[in-house]
Amino acid sequence: MTQFAEWLQCVACERRFDILEVRYRCQCGGLLAVEREAGWGGLLSPAHFDSRLTSRRAIDRSGVWRFREAVLSCDESEIVTHPEGSTRLYESARLAEYAGIDSIRFKHEGENPTGSFKDRGMTVATTQAVRTGARAVACASTGNTSASLAAYASRAGLRAIVFVPAGKIAMGKLAQTLAYGATVLAVRGDFDDAMRLVDEASTKLGIYLLNSINPFRIEGQKTIGWEILQDLDWRAPDWIVLPAGNLGNTSAIGKAMIEALEGGWIDRLPRIASVQANGANPFYRGFSGGFRERFRMQAETVASAIRIGDPVSWDKARAVIDRTRGVVTEVTDEAILEAKAMIDGAGIGCEPASACSLAGARRLRADGVSGRDESVVASLTGNLLKDPESVLERVRRDGGAQMGEIDANVDEVAR
Ligand code: F0G
Repeated sequence: MTQFAEWLQCVACERRFDILEVRYRCQCGGLLAVEREAGWGGLLSPAHFDSRLTSRRAIDRSGVWRFREAVLSCDESEIVTHPEGSTRLYESARLAEYAGIDSIRFKHEGENPTGSFKDRGMTVATTQAVRTGARAVACASTGNTSASLAAYASRAGLRAIVFVPAGKIAMGKLAQTLAYGATVLAVRGDFDDAMRLVDEASTKLGIYLLNSINPFRIEGQKTIGWEILQDLDWRAPDWIVLPAGNLGNTSAIGKAMIEALEGGWIDRLPRIASVQANGANPFYRGFSGGFRERFRMQAETVASAIRIGDPVSWDKARAVIDRTRGVVTEVTDEAILEAKAMIDGAGIGCEPASACSLAGARRLRADGVSGRDESVVASLTGNLLKDPESVLERVRRDGGAQMGEIDANVDEVAR
Protein backbone atom coordinates (compact mmCIF):
# COMPACT_ATOMS: atom_id res chain seq x y z
CA MET A 1 0.00 0.00 0.00
CA THR A 2 1.14 3.52 -0.78
CA GLN A 3 2.17 5.34 2.37
CA PHE A 4 2.76 9.05 2.74
CA ALA A 5 4.91 10.92 5.22
CA GLU A 6 2.64 12.26 7.98
CA TRP A 7 3.13 14.72 10.82
CA LEU A 8 1.09 16.74 13.32
CA GLN A 9 0.75 20.41 12.46
CA CYS A 10 -0.64 23.33 14.44
CA VAL A 11 -3.61 24.93 12.67
CA ALA A 12 -2.63 28.34 14.12
CA CYS A 13 1.19 28.67 13.80
CA GLU A 14 1.95 25.68 11.49
CA ARG A 15 4.63 24.27 13.81
CA ARG A 16 5.18 20.57 13.13
CA PHE A 17 5.50 17.62 15.54
CA ASP A 18 6.40 13.97 15.03
CA ILE A 19 3.38 11.79 14.22
CA LEU A 20 4.09 9.49 17.19
CA GLU A 21 4.39 12.32 19.73
CA VAL A 22 1.53 12.20 22.22
CA ARG A 23 0.16 15.74 22.27
CA TYR A 24 -3.16 17.38 21.50
CA ARG A 25 -2.21 21.06 21.32
CA CYS A 26 0.72 23.11 20.07
CA GLN A 27 2.95 25.10 22.44
CA CYS A 28 1.02 28.17 21.23
CA GLY A 29 -2.25 26.56 22.35
CA GLY A 30 -3.47 25.88 18.79
CA LEU A 31 -5.24 22.66 17.75
CA LEU A 32 -3.24 20.00 15.90
CA ALA A 33 -4.11 18.34 12.59
CA VAL A 34 -2.58 15.41 10.73
CA GLU A 35 -0.96 16.59 7.48
CA ARG A 36 0.80 14.68 4.69
CA GLU A 37 3.46 15.34 2.07
CA ALA A 38 2.45 17.80 -0.66
CA GLY A 39 0.39 16.43 -3.54
CA TRP A 40 -0.61 13.15 -1.82
CA GLY A 41 -4.24 13.41 -2.86
CA GLY A 42 -3.34 13.49 -6.53
CA LEU A 43 -1.58 10.14 -6.17
CA LEU A 44 -4.81 8.47 -5.05
CA SER A 45 -8.01 8.17 -7.06
CA PRO A 46 -11.69 7.43 -6.47
CA ALA A 47 -11.30 4.31 -8.67
CA HIS A 48 -8.66 2.99 -6.25
CA PHE A 49 -11.06 3.30 -3.30
CA ASP A 50 -13.99 1.95 -5.35
CA SER A 51 -12.00 -1.18 -6.26
CA ARG A 52 -12.12 -2.21 -2.58
CA LEU A 53 -15.94 -2.28 -2.52
CA THR A 54 -16.04 -5.87 -3.76
CA SER A 55 -13.34 -7.13 -1.39
CA ARG A 56 -14.15 -9.39 1.57
CA ARG A 57 -11.23 -8.24 3.73
CA ALA A 58 -12.31 -6.45 6.94
CA ILE A 59 -10.07 -3.45 6.27
CA ASP A 60 -11.56 -3.01 2.79
CA ARG A 61 -15.14 -3.48 4.05
CA SER A 62 -14.56 -0.88 6.76
CA GLY A 63 -15.79 2.46 5.46
CA VAL A 64 -12.84 4.02 7.27
CA TRP A 65 -9.90 1.79 6.33
CA ARG A 66 -11.08 1.52 2.72
CA PHE A 67 -9.55 5.02 2.53
CA ARG A 68 -6.52 4.05 4.65
CA GLU A 69 -3.77 5.81 2.67
CA ALA A 70 -5.61 9.07 3.40
CA VAL A 71 -6.42 8.24 7.03
CA LEU A 72 -3.33 6.83 8.78
CA SER A 73 -0.06 5.35 7.56
CA CYS A 74 0.46 2.31 9.75
CA ASP A 75 1.08 -1.37 9.49
CA GLU A 76 -2.13 -3.25 8.62
CA SER A 77 -1.56 -5.56 11.57
CA GLU A 78 -1.83 -2.56 13.94
CA ILE A 79 -5.36 -1.63 12.85
CA VAL A 80 -8.08 -1.91 15.54
CA THR A 81 -11.32 -2.26 13.57
CA HIS A 82 -14.79 -3.68 14.19
CA PRO A 83 -15.17 -2.92 11.10
CA GLU A 84 -17.08 0.38 11.00
CA GLY A 85 -18.66 2.70 8.41
CA SER A 86 -20.22 1.45 5.16
CA THR A 87 -23.47 2.98 6.33
CA ARG A 88 -26.54 3.39 4.12
CA LEU A 89 -27.75 6.45 2.27
CA TYR A 90 -31.55 6.83 2.47
CA GLU A 91 -33.79 8.89 0.22
CA SER A 92 -37.29 9.98 1.26
CA ALA A 93 -39.75 11.98 -0.84
CA ARG A 94 -41.83 12.64 2.28
CA LEU A 95 -38.92 14.15 4.17
CA ALA A 96 -37.85 16.19 1.14
CA GLU A 97 -41.34 17.65 1.02
CA TYR A 98 -41.14 18.39 4.74
CA ALA A 99 -37.86 20.27 4.20
CA GLY A 100 -39.39 22.13 1.23
CA ILE A 101 -36.82 20.82 -1.25
CA ASP A 102 -36.82 18.48 -4.26
CA SER A 103 -34.59 15.82 -2.75
CA ILE A 104 -32.77 14.99 0.44
CA ARG A 105 -30.60 12.00 1.30
CA PHE A 106 -29.67 10.81 4.77
CA LYS A 107 -26.31 9.24 5.59
CA HIS A 108 -27.25 7.02 8.52
CA GLU A 109 -24.24 7.03 10.80
CA GLY A 110 -26.42 5.38 13.46
CA GLU A 111 -25.70 2.14 11.56
CA ASN A 112 -22.14 1.99 12.87
CA PRO A 113 -21.15 -0.86 15.25
CA THR A 114 -21.95 1.11 18.43
CA GLY A 115 -24.77 3.11 16.83
CA SER A 116 -23.12 6.45 16.10
CA PHE A 117 -20.61 8.15 13.80
CA LYS A 118 -18.07 8.15 16.65
CA ASP A 119 -16.81 4.69 15.66
CA ARG A 120 -15.16 6.15 12.55
CA GLY A 121 -12.83 8.38 14.52
CA MET A 122 -12.45 5.89 17.35
CA THR A 123 -11.03 3.08 15.19
CA VAL A 124 -8.23 5.40 14.03
CA ALA A 125 -7.49 7.07 17.38
CA THR A 126 -7.52 3.71 19.19
CA THR A 127 -5.11 2.33 16.60
CA GLN A 128 -2.86 5.33 17.26
CA ALA A 129 -3.22 4.85 21.04
CA VAL A 130 -1.85 1.32 20.70
CA ARG A 131 0.94 2.52 18.37
CA THR A 132 2.09 5.04 20.98
CA GLY A 133 2.10 2.41 23.74
CA ALA A 134 -0.93 3.69 25.67
CA ARG A 135 -2.29 1.47 28.46
CA ALA A 136 -5.41 3.48 29.33
CA VAL A 137 -7.69 5.78 27.32
CA ALA A 138 -10.22 8.41 28.40
CA CYS A 139 -12.78 10.89 27.11
CA ALA A 140 -15.47 13.30 28.25
CA SER A 141 -18.75 12.54 26.58
CA THR A 142 -22.45 13.23 26.20
CA GLY A 143 -22.72 9.46 25.70
CA ASN A 144 -21.89 8.36 22.17
CA THR A 145 -18.15 8.91 22.36
CA SER A 146 -18.06 7.00 25.64
CA ALA A 147 -19.92 4.00 24.16
CA SER A 148 -17.60 3.96 21.17
CA LEU A 149 -14.44 4.39 23.24
CA ALA A 150 -15.54 1.56 25.54
CA ALA A 151 -16.08 -0.82 22.61
CA TYR A 152 -12.78 -0.07 20.86
CA ALA A 153 -10.75 -0.03 24.08
CA SER A 154 -12.13 -3.45 24.89
CA ARG A 155 -11.17 -4.70 21.43
CA ALA A 156 -7.63 -3.35 21.88
CA GLY A 157 -7.24 -4.52 25.49
CA LEU A 158 -6.91 -1.00 26.90
CA ARG A 159 -8.29 0.30 30.20
CA ALA A 160 -11.21 2.69 29.47
CA ILE A 161 -12.29 5.61 31.67
CA VAL A 162 -15.11 7.91 30.61
CA PHE A 163 -16.22 11.21 32.15
CA VAL A 164 -19.92 11.98 31.65
CA PRO A 165 -22.12 14.76 33.04
CA ALA A 166 -23.95 13.07 35.96
CA GLY A 167 -27.56 12.20 35.15
CA LYS A 168 -27.43 13.91 31.76
CA ILE A 169 -26.79 11.17 29.22
CA ALA A 170 -29.32 8.96 27.43
CA MET A 171 -29.94 5.50 28.90
CA GLY A 172 -28.93 3.51 25.81
CA LYS A 173 -25.51 5.18 25.75
CA LEU A 174 -24.82 4.65 29.46
CA ALA A 175 -25.89 1.00 29.24
CA GLN A 176 -23.60 0.40 26.26
CA THR A 177 -20.63 2.03 27.93
CA LEU A 178 -21.04 -0.11 31.05
CA ALA A 179 -21.70 -3.24 29.01
CA TYR A 180 -18.47 -2.87 27.05
CA GLY A 181 -16.63 -2.66 30.36
CA ALA A 182 -15.53 0.97 30.76
CA THR A 183 -15.20 2.71 34.12
CA VAL A 184 -17.77 5.53 34.22
CA LEU A 185 -17.03 8.67 36.23
CA ALA A 186 -20.24 10.69 36.51
CA VAL A 187 -19.06 14.27 36.97
CA ARG A 188 -21.21 16.69 38.96
CA GLY A 189 -21.45 19.37 36.29
CA ASP A 190 -22.09 19.60 32.57
CA PHE A 191 -20.20 18.27 29.53
CA ASP A 192 -17.92 21.30 29.44
CA ASP A 193 -16.86 20.66 33.06
CA ALA A 194 -16.21 16.99 32.22
CA MET A 195 -14.16 18.05 29.18
CA ARG A 196 -11.94 20.38 31.22
CA LEU A 197 -11.48 17.67 33.86
CA VAL A 198 -10.49 14.90 31.43
CA ASP A 199 -8.11 17.24 29.63
CA GLU A 200 -6.28 17.96 32.89
CA ALA A 201 -6.51 14.41 34.24
CA SER A 202 -5.21 12.75 31.09
CA THR A 203 -2.12 15.00 31.01
CA LYS A 204 -1.39 14.61 34.72
CA LEU A 205 -2.08 10.85 34.86
CA GLY A 206 -0.61 9.89 31.48
CA ILE A 207 -3.86 8.59 30.01
CA TYR A 208 -4.34 8.78 26.22
CA LEU A 209 -7.13 11.27 25.40
CA LEU A 210 -9.72 10.14 22.85
CA ASN A 211 -11.93 13.23 22.52
CA SER A 212 -12.17 14.83 19.08
CA ILE A 213 -9.42 17.28 20.11
CA ASN A 214 -7.30 14.20 19.26
CA PRO A 215 -6.40 14.78 15.57
CA PHE A 216 -6.61 11.06 14.75
CA ARG A 217 -10.33 11.10 15.60
CA ILE A 218 -10.79 13.74 12.91
CA GLU A 219 -8.83 11.65 10.36
CA GLY A 220 -11.27 8.78 10.82
CA GLN A 221 -14.35 10.98 10.77
CA LYS A 222 -13.34 12.43 7.41
CA THR A 223 -14.52 9.18 5.85
CA ILE A 224 -18.18 10.12 6.46
CA GLY A 225 -17.62 12.72 3.77
CA TRP A 226 -15.69 10.44 1.42
CA GLU A 227 -18.26 7.68 1.77
CA ILE A 228 -21.02 10.16 0.87
CA LEU A 229 -19.03 11.09 -2.25
CA GLN A 230 -18.51 7.41 -3.07
CA ASP A 231 -22.26 6.75 -2.60
CA LEU A 232 -22.95 9.58 -5.09
CA ASP A 233 -20.37 8.30 -7.61
CA TRP A 234 -17.99 11.13 -6.66
CA ARG A 235 -20.38 13.93 -7.58
CA ALA A 236 -20.43 16.41 -4.72
CA PRO A 237 -23.87 17.43 -3.40
CA ASP A 238 -24.66 21.15 -3.10
CA TRP A 239 -24.98 20.91 0.68
CA ILE A 240 -23.89 18.65 3.52
CA VAL A 241 -25.94 19.41 6.63
CA LEU A 242 -24.94 18.19 10.09
CA PRO A 243 -25.69 18.63 13.77
CA ALA A 244 -22.96 20.55 15.60
CA GLY A 245 -21.89 20.25 19.24
CA ASN A 246 -18.20 19.92 19.98
CA LEU A 247 -17.56 20.65 16.25
CA GLY A 248 -15.44 17.58 15.48
CA ASN A 249 -17.80 16.48 12.73
CA THR A 250 -17.90 19.89 11.05
CA SER A 251 -14.08 19.99 11.13
CA ALA A 252 -13.70 16.44 9.82
CA ILE A 253 -16.22 16.50 6.98
CA GLY A 254 -14.89 19.88 5.91
CA LYS A 255 -11.29 18.59 5.88
CA ALA A 256 -12.47 15.60 3.83
CA MET A 257 -14.09 17.82 1.22
CA ILE A 258 -11.11 20.16 0.94
CA GLU A 259 -8.73 17.19 0.56
CA ALA A 260 -11.02 15.58 -2.03
CA LEU A 261 -11.01 18.80 -4.05
CA GLU A 262 -7.24 19.22 -3.77
CA GLY A 263 -6.73 15.58 -4.84
CA GLY A 264 -8.96 16.09 -7.88
CA TRP A 265 -11.45 13.48 -6.61
CA ILE A 266 -14.30 16.02 -7.00
CA ASP A 267 -14.53 19.20 -9.05
CA ARG A 268 -16.30 21.49 -6.57
CA LEU A 269 -16.78 21.87 -2.83
CA PRO A 270 -20.16 21.21 -1.26
CA ARG A 271 -21.26 23.89 1.20
CA ILE A 272 -21.19 22.73 4.83
CA ALA A 273 -24.12 23.70 7.04
CA SER A 274 -23.68 23.18 10.79
CA VAL A 275 -26.85 23.12 12.83
CA GLN A 276 -27.04 23.89 16.55
CA ALA A 277 -29.88 23.72 19.06
CA ASN A 278 -30.79 27.28 20.02
CA GLY A 279 -30.11 26.56 23.71
CA ALA A 280 -26.59 25.34 22.85
CA ASN A 281 -25.60 27.70 20.07
CA PRO A 282 -22.18 29.31 20.74
CA PHE A 283 -20.95 28.54 17.21
CA TYR A 284 -24.10 30.00 15.68
CA ARG A 285 -23.57 33.17 17.71
CA GLY A 286 -20.00 33.34 16.50
CA PHE A 287 -21.02 32.90 12.88
CA SER A 288 -23.78 35.52 13.19
CA GLY A 289 -21.19 38.01 14.45
CA GLY A 290 -18.81 37.33 11.55
CA PHE A 291 -16.64 35.19 13.88
CA ARG A 292 -15.15 38.29 15.49
CA GLU A 293 -15.65 36.69 18.89
CA ARG A 294 -15.56 33.21 20.41
CA PHE A 295 -18.64 32.46 22.52
CA ARG A 296 -18.98 30.22 25.56
CA MET A 297 -22.30 29.56 27.30
CA GLN A 298 -24.26 27.35 29.69
CA ALA A 299 -25.95 24.94 27.29
CA GLU A 300 -29.47 23.51 27.58
CA THR A 301 -31.41 21.47 24.98
CA VAL A 302 -33.49 18.28 24.73
CA ALA A 303 -30.83 16.98 22.34
CA SER A 304 -28.48 15.81 25.12
CA ALA A 305 -25.75 14.73 22.65
CA ILE A 306 -25.13 18.35 21.66
CA ARG A 307 -25.64 20.02 25.05
CA ILE A 308 -22.24 21.70 24.74
CA GLY A 309 -21.45 25.35 25.46
CA ASP A 310 -17.68 25.53 24.82
CA PRO A 311 -16.84 23.42 21.74
CA VAL A 312 -13.17 22.38 21.53
CA SER A 313 -12.81 22.26 17.71
CA TRP A 314 -13.97 25.87 17.22
CA ASP A 315 -10.95 27.06 15.19
CA LYS A 316 -10.97 24.10 12.78
CA ALA A 317 -14.72 24.29 12.26
CA ARG A 318 -14.59 28.01 11.70
CA ALA A 319 -11.96 27.54 8.96
CA VAL A 320 -14.23 24.93 7.32
CA ILE A 321 -17.22 27.29 7.29
CA ASP A 322 -15.05 30.01 5.75
CA ARG A 323 -13.48 27.75 3.13
CA THR A 324 -16.68 25.95 2.00
CA ARG A 325 -18.85 29.08 1.91
CA GLY A 326 -20.63 27.27 4.71
CA VAL A 327 -23.26 28.48 7.12
CA VAL A 328 -24.22 27.89 10.74
CA THR A 329 -27.87 27.90 11.69
CA GLU A 330 -29.89 27.16 14.82
CA VAL A 331 -33.17 25.34 15.46
CA THR A 332 -35.50 25.19 18.46
CA ASP A 333 -36.04 22.08 20.60
CA GLU A 334 -39.60 21.92 19.20
CA ALA A 335 -38.24 21.90 15.64
CA ILE A 336 -35.74 19.15 16.58
CA LEU A 337 -38.45 16.96 18.11
CA GLU A 338 -40.81 17.55 15.17
CA ALA A 339 -38.06 16.64 12.68
CA LYS A 340 -37.18 13.55 14.74
CA ALA A 341 -40.83 12.42 14.68
CA MET A 342 -40.81 12.86 10.87
CA ILE A 343 -37.58 10.82 10.46
CA ASP A 344 -38.84 8.14 12.86
CA GLY A 345 -42.23 8.09 11.11
CA ALA A 346 -40.51 7.58 7.74
CA GLY A 347 -39.19 4.28 9.14
CA ILE A 348 -35.62 5.55 9.23
CA GLY A 349 -35.27 6.71 12.84
CA CYS A 350 -32.56 8.58 14.71
CA GLU A 351 -31.73 10.06 18.10
CA PRO A 352 -32.87 13.65 18.89
CA ALA A 353 -29.58 15.47 18.13
CA SER A 354 -29.39 13.84 14.69
CA ALA A 355 -32.72 15.37 13.70
CA CYS A 356 -31.02 18.79 13.76
CA SER A 357 -29.88 18.01 10.23
CA LEU A 358 -33.43 17.76 8.84
CA ALA A 359 -34.67 20.66 10.97
CA GLY A 360 -31.66 22.67 9.79
CA ALA A 361 -32.18 21.81 6.11
CA ARG A 362 -35.79 22.95 6.46
CA ARG A 363 -34.77 26.21 8.12
CA LEU A 364 -32.11 26.97 5.47
CA ARG A 365 -34.73 26.55 2.75
CA ALA A 366 -37.31 28.64 4.65
CA ASP A 367 -34.72 31.41 5.11
CA GLY A 368 -33.89 31.29 1.39
CA VAL A 369 -30.28 30.32 2.10
CA SER A 370 -30.56 27.11 0.07
CA GLY A 371 -32.53 26.57 -3.14
CA ARG A 372 -35.41 24.13 -3.70
CA ASP A 373 -33.50 22.30 -6.43
CA GLU A 374 -30.15 22.11 -4.59
CA SER A 375 -29.07 18.62 -3.55
CA VAL A 376 -28.76 18.00 0.18
CA VAL A 377 -27.13 15.19 2.13
CA ALA A 378 -27.96 15.23 5.84
CA SER A 379 -26.03 13.22 8.42
CA LEU A 380 -28.01 11.16 10.92
CA THR A 381 -25.38 10.92 13.59
CA GLY A 382 -26.95 8.47 16.05
CA ASN A 383 -29.32 5.51 16.23
CA LEU A 384 -32.96 5.71 17.38
CA LEU A 385 -32.28 3.14 20.13
CA LYS A 386 -29.72 5.38 21.81
CA ASP A 387 -32.50 7.38 23.43
CA PRO A 388 -35.74 5.36 23.68
CA GLU A 389 -37.04 7.60 26.49
CA SER A 390 -37.42 10.49 24.07
CA VAL A 391 -39.80 8.38 21.93
CA LEU A 392 -41.85 7.21 24.90
CA GLU A 393 -42.11 10.79 26.14
CA ARG A 394 -43.55 11.89 22.78
CA VAL A 395 -46.12 9.06 22.87
CA ARG A 396 -47.09 10.04 26.44
CA ARG A 397 -47.35 13.71 25.42
CA ASP A 398 -49.63 12.77 22.54
CA GLY A 399 -52.09 11.45 25.11
CA GLY A 400 -51.83 7.74 24.38
CA ALA A 401 -53.40 7.92 20.88
CA GLN A 402 -50.80 5.47 19.63
CA MET A 403 -50.65 3.02 22.52
CA GLY A 404 -53.30 1.64 24.89
CA GLU A 405 -53.68 -1.21 27.35
CA ILE A 406 -56.51 -3.72 26.74
CA ASP A 407 -58.01 -6.91 28.21
CA ALA A 408 -57.14 -10.06 26.28
CA ASN A 409 -60.32 -10.41 24.17
CA VAL A 410 -61.34 -9.55 20.58
CA ASP A 411 -64.08 -7.05 21.59
CA GLU A 412 -61.38 -4.95 23.22
CA VAL A 413 -59.28 -5.16 20.05
CA ALA A 414 -62.25 -4.03 17.92
CA ARG A 415 -62.89 -1.10 20.29
N1 F0G B 1 -24.87 13.99 17.03
C1 F0G B 1 -24.65 13.06 17.97
C2 F0G B 1 -25.58 11.91 18.03
C3 F0G B 1 -23.56 13.21 18.87
O1 F0G B 1 -23.37 12.28 19.79
C4 F0G B 1 -22.74 14.34 18.78
C5 F0G B 1 -21.62 14.54 19.69
C6 F0G B 1 -23.01 15.27 17.77
C7 F0G B 1 -24.07 15.07 16.92
C8 F0G B 1 -22.19 16.49 17.59
O2 F0G B 1 -21.02 16.21 16.93
O3 F0G B 1 -19.42 17.12 18.60
O4 F0G B 1 -18.68 16.49 16.32
O5 F0G B 1 -20.10 18.51 16.68
N2 F0G B 1 -21.41 13.82 20.71
C9 F0G B 1 -20.22 13.88 21.57
C10 F0G B 1 -20.20 12.73 22.52
C11 F0G B 1 -19.99 15.19 22.18
O6 F0G B 1 -19.60 12.85 23.60
O7 F0G B 1 -20.74 11.67 22.22
P1 F0G B 1 -19.71 17.15 17.14
